Amino acid sequence: MVTMVPQTDPGASYRAARAEIDAAVRRVLDSGWYILGEEGAAFEREFGAWLGAETVGCGNGTDALVLALRGLGIGAGDAVATVSHTAVATVAAIEMADALPVLIDIDPHFYTMEPADLEAVLIKPPPGCPPIKAVIVVHIYGQAAAMDEILAVAARHGVKVIEDCAQAHGATLHGRNLGTLADAATFSFYPTKNLGAFGDAGAVATADAGLARRLRALRQYGWERRYISDMPGINSRLDETQAAVLRVKLRGLDAGNARRRTIAAAYDAALAGTAAAPPLRRADAAHVFHQYVVQLEDRDSVQKRLAAQGVGTGIHYPVPVHLQPAYAGRLPMGPRECRATAAAAGNILSLPMFPEMTDAQLEQVCAALRRL
Ligand SMILES: Cc1ncc(COP(=O)(O)O)c(C=O)c1O
Repeated sequence: MVTMVPQTDPGASYRAARAEIDAAVRRVLDSGWYILGEEGAAFEREFGAWLGAETVGCGNGTDALVLALRGLGIGAGDAVATVSHTAVATVAAIEMADALPVLIDIDPHFYTMEPADLEAVLIKPPPGCPPIKAVIVVHIYGQAAAMDEILAVAARHGVKVIEDCAQAHGATLHGRNLGTLADAATFSFYPTKNLGAFGDAGAVATADAGLARRLRALRQYGWERRYISDMPGINSRLDETQAAVLRVKLRGLDAGNARRRTIAAAYDAALAGTAAAPPLRRADAAHVFHQYVVQLEDRDSVQKRLAAQGVGTGIHYPVPVHLQPAYAGRLPMGPRECRATAAAAGNILSLPMFPEMTDAQLEQVCAALRRL
């Protein structure tokens, strides 16, 4: 009987800090204050100091995108460009904000937005497409998108840029934290993320104090004053319990990212000479390996062989958004028609990746990889 190394293991992050997390949760329960209180405010300060921007907590990473769009004044009658190679949440959030998603292809090596496809839709929008007012760039798997090029394209066409950092807590480009490079950035603290809560949680980051103030109102019925809605808002607040957990886990984030890099380097070495292509690293960028994704021609059979050797894997994501039943055929696309996106979906495989992976588990995975 082989013991399975899971692809991810959020429970291990609880076991690794059990005493501190139990104490933090108990402190909230004892306080009698459960939503938008001192823990949330402290987490926003601490996360903001760590990141280098003002941060506003909210219910999850999807709502963070909705809030960022609405805070930037984007909604009905606007279009927003993003990628099809992402968690469906990115695209769902655009529709939740009443805007129209326009799907852009990816660079097949880095899996991030192809700047030339973006510029092409900005120069010549698809027929009937409302004006594209913003771009949501996804730093997928924990590595920066081509931000220099995308920011230059966006500046040429006067569109706002939101960084979707749901998978990129702690990643950098040219030494600067992702999440501080554009008009706003969003984070998810879903339990498996590099910084994960034990439930849903999210945040928006921005250097614009006016936007931060609007976000604080939008997340709670548009209130700037209690019970008075100055603008139509939503309910997407950060729980005190999750904030208290996140304060504990934030202290271990940099070490967790370092361990992810160590695991990635071990995988690189184990894959040398095999048919699996390891992830490419962008120059002058620090990858935080939310996922370690290889490309393989015979992905499905390799996945089965790895499972037989006790190696859990995942596919992020098996069906691109533009081919999902809910979206197929109804969203405009860039001129490349997401061809690289569709091709990548058939070849990608995510290996086990979580900081609490033991050396024995790591060796079990590497031994299986060397046999590929
Ligand atoms: C790239 C990306 N964007 C957005 C989200 C949405 O975050 P949440 O699940 O917290 O709503 C996720 C996570 O699932 C994600 O990976």
